[in-house]
Amino acid sequence: MDKVAVLDFGSQYTQLIARKVRELGVYSEIYPYHVSLNRLQEEKPSALILSGGPSSVYDNGAPSLSSQFFQLGIPVLGICYSLHLMAQILGGEVSASSKREYGFASLNVLNREGLLSGVEEGEQVWMSHGDRVEKLPEGFMVTGSTSNCRVAVMERREKKWFGIQFHPEVIHTKPGPKILSNFLFSLSGVKAEWSIQAFLEDKVEQIRTQVGNQRVLCGLSGGVDSLVTSLIVQKAVKDRLFCILVDNGLMRKGQYNELMEIFPHKFSLNVVGVSAEDKFLERLRKVTSPERKRKIIGETFIRIFKEEAEHLGGVKFLAQGTIYPDVIESSPVKGPSSSIKSHHNVGGLPKGLKFKLVEPLRELFKDEVRELASRLGVDSKFISQHPFPGPGLAVRIVGEVTPQRLQILREADDILLQEIRKEHLYNRLWQAFAVLLPVKTVGVMGDRRSYQRVVVVRLVRSVDGMTADWFPATPELLSRLSNRIVNEVEGVNRVVYDITTKPPGTIEWE
Ligand code: XMP
Repeated sequence: MDKVAVLDFGSQYTQLIARKVRELGVYSEIYPYHVSLNRLQEEKPSALILSGGPSSVYDNGAPSLSSQFFQLGIPVLGICYSLHLMAQILGGEVSASSKREYGFASLNVLNREGLLSGVEEGEQVWMSHGDRVEKLPEGFMVTGSTSNCRVAVMERREKKWFGIQFHPEVIHTKPGPKILSNFLFSLSGVKAEWSIQAFLEDKVEQIRTQVGNQRVLCGLSGGVDSLVTSLIVQKAVKDRLFCILVDNGLMRKGQYNELMEIFPHKFSLNVVGVSAEDKFLERLRKVTSPERKRKIIGETFIRIFKEEAEHLGGVKFLAQGTIYPDVIESSPVKGPSSSIKSHHNVGGLPKGLKFKLVEPLRELFKDEVRELASRLGVDSKFISQHPFPGPGLAVRIVGEVTPQRLQILREADDILLQEIRKEHLYNRLWQAFAVLLPVKTVGVMGDRRSYQRVVVVRLVRSVDGMTADWFPATPELLSRLSNRIVNEVEGVNRVVYDITTKPPGTIEWE
């Protein structure tokens, strides 16, 4: 199967490039810009796309590329920063500019035989750059320009080298899909052989070979990724898959029982339920640091897994729902975003766990996992559920986690979700949840002074969780939430609404 390698120079759009290529039916993977020539050659890509990035080619330590990458005989498309890099590496000239051009531009098509075949004159494109190409490298011609940018598209067709100043991967660039498909199909001769159905059939076969007649264990979390993982493994190994659902006491109201009902009955999964609330709460006693909570919860899960595996006996494999954005080797130009909170279970297994890993979703993006879920018969309500953090309500109780606090938060959170659903807001929000604060405030209830806890309501919209906006809820909704939570949840006398965007805030409070 043909594969496209996307080299990441730090653009916020790198994943989008890989997604767009897959949407065109071609398998794509992301590599850091400093991937070695040997490693890349081993991957045998049929085409290379070099992403944009936040740097200027004149910055100190700006990410670069060996000119040898252009001698592999593989077609190359450079986007934005990588257009400048290509120009510089191949002998052209780039001028630095302190002023960025950012936003829409209209594209003048100067030649329609290559990258811009089928693109209309004046179509809208999305620009975001500082530097510009002043002198073309040898053998290149300009095939597209805008009023502010003479070299918006440059091509050297006999070498199959192409550069674009604007971003073909973003939705604001109208001819983006056309340009990418020209690059892939007519200019590079790549074949469209990737589809989610083909992927599924391949995966099932691979797992069958990998696992042989051994047993596989899979932890279910209640999220889509672990469910889809189980369903794929189940197709491959049938009743030799054993799923575990751990009640850590940190789930939403009724969640554990609901899941214990649907997993075996709806999906015929072989599920062992483990009640471990006491273990988790005991280990979380007196712990207030968010990162310490995460660590303890992670470790406790692993312990329980080990115990259950020993209990079952003969389990050699562990299936995990790791998805592609969790495993992409991030490039150092990306900034500090990956180290703010210790999120996912990436990086293999902790020492002491002797399983071999089965990770069928390792190559997939989230929306591809959702498509797969739908093909595997998972209903849309389950698929479109909001993300819920692995450490659950523990990171929504600021300070120490106790059974009483969990009880308060569960009730408040349940009321909040009921109201959000009533308003048909659930699917318009990225997440909707309550947070319990470790402070008490004074109130007056039925002529009596009260001194009770504060609940925060957090409703956010987001595309990928990397940035988020608070939702402008109506005063009526806020008022209903406040009235119901204060009146119905014992121990709460104040409700506040969180109006913090991400950044500078994060979505969760811990
Ligand atoms: P933040 O709070 O960093 O969250 O803005 C971004 C997204 O990640 C989720 N999140 C987590 N998910 N384990 C998880 O599996 C965690 O420890 C964790 N912390 C945050 C959060 O709910 C949001 O969707």
